[in-house]
Amino acid sequence: MDIDVRRLREMSGLVTPMALRVAVTLGLPDRLRDEPATADELAPELAVDPLGLDLLLAHLTMLGVTEGTDAGYRTTAFGALLCVNADNNLNNALNQNSAAGRADLAFVDLLHSVRTGEPAYPVRYGQGFWADLTEQPHLRAAFDEQMTDRQRDWVPQVVRNYDWSRFGTLVDVGGGHGSLLAAILTANPEMRGHLVDLEETAAGARVVLDLYGLGGRTEVTGGSFFDPLPTGGDAYLLFDVLHDWDDEDAHRILARCAEAGSRVLVVESLGESTEFDLVMLVHFGGRDRRLHDLERLAAVHGLRLESVHRLTEGRSLLEFTR
Ligand SMILES: C[S@@+](CC[C@H](N)C(=O)[O-])C[C@H]1O[C@@H](n2cnc3c(N)ncnc32)[C@H](O)[C@@H]1O
Repeated sequence: MDIDVRRLREMSGLVTPMALRVAVTLGLPDRLRDEPATADELAPELAVDPLGLDLLLAHLTMLGVTEGTDAGYRTTAFGALLCVNADNNLNNALNQNSAAGRADLAFVDLLHSVRTGEPAYPVRYGQGFWADLTEQPHLRAAFDEQMTDRQRDWVPQVVRNYDWSRFGTLVDVGGGHGSLLAAILTANPEMRGHLVDLEETAAGARVVLDLYGLGGRTEVTGGSFFDPLPTGGDAYLLFDVLHDWDDEDAHRILARCAEAGSRVLVVESLGESTEFDLVMLVHFGGRDRRLHDLERLAAVHGLRLESVHRLTEGRSLLEFTR
C-alpha cells in the first residue's frame, strides 16, 4: 500500500484509540499488572463477553500494552503507564467513566459541531458538560482531579514567570481545587486570595487551601461566575476558563470580572494546538482564542491589554486593565 495512504488509514482509524479507552475503562492495565489471566478467567470477573475480551486483549498485545504468557495476558511496562497510579493523568483522561474520557466520546458527532458551531456533547448526553458534572458527582470529582494533576507540572513556572506579589488580593475565578492559588500565595506571603467556583468544587478548594495552611489568608466563595463576583480584588484571574465558553458566555464572564475590579488576568493557550481547539469545540462549544480575539472580546468591557507574559509551555498570561 502507498505509504501516504497507509498513514492516512492509520490516522483515521478509530479502533486503537477506542481499544485503549475500553481497556482503561475495564481496568485491564491494573488488573493484569501483577498476575496474568486468560480472557475466559477475566470475563466473568468483569461481566464481559469472553470472545470480545480475547479480541480486545489480542489487539492490546499487538500494541505492546499487554503480552501473552503461559498463564494468560499480562500488562507490560509500557501498558503500566495506563494504570491508575501511573502519575501521568492518562488513566483519568481515557476512562469512559471520567469526565474527560466520557466527553471525548462526543467526537463521534464532530460533524454536528462543524456544521453548527455548537458542542457535540449534548447531542450524545442530552445536556451540556457542566450540567452533567453538577448532576453526577463522580464526573465532577474526576474533572477536578484532572485539573489539579495538570497544574502540578505548571505550578513552579507559573509562580516564577509572573510577578504576582504586585497584588494584595488575587481573585481566582473558576479556580478549581485551588492548587494554583495555594502555590502563588505560598510563594508570596504578603498576598491574600479569594477563590470562586461552583459549590461542589469550592468545597474541595476549602480543604486544599486549609491543607496548605492558607485558611487565614484565603476566602472561598461557592457560586457562579455568571453572577456578581466578590469585589475588592486587585486582580481577577481567569485561568483556562474563557476557552470553555462561546463568545456570548465569555462576554458574560468578562463583564462580571470588569464590574468587580479593574485588572483582569486571562491565561489561555492562544490557539497553540489545533487538536485542543477541536476538543474545546466538541466538549463545550468553546475555543482557544488567539490574542487579537481576546483583545477584541475584552475591549467591549473597557479592558485594555497592557502586557503579555509567557507562563509555561502552551500558556500565556494577558494582563488587562480597565
Ligand atoms: C478548565 S477548569 C480550570 C480550573 C482552574 N482555573 C485551573 O486552571 O486549574 C474550569 C473551571 O471553571 C469552573 N466553572 C464552570 N462553570 C462555572 C460557573 N458557572 N461558575 C464558576 N465556576 C465555574 C469549573 O468548575 C472549573 O473549576
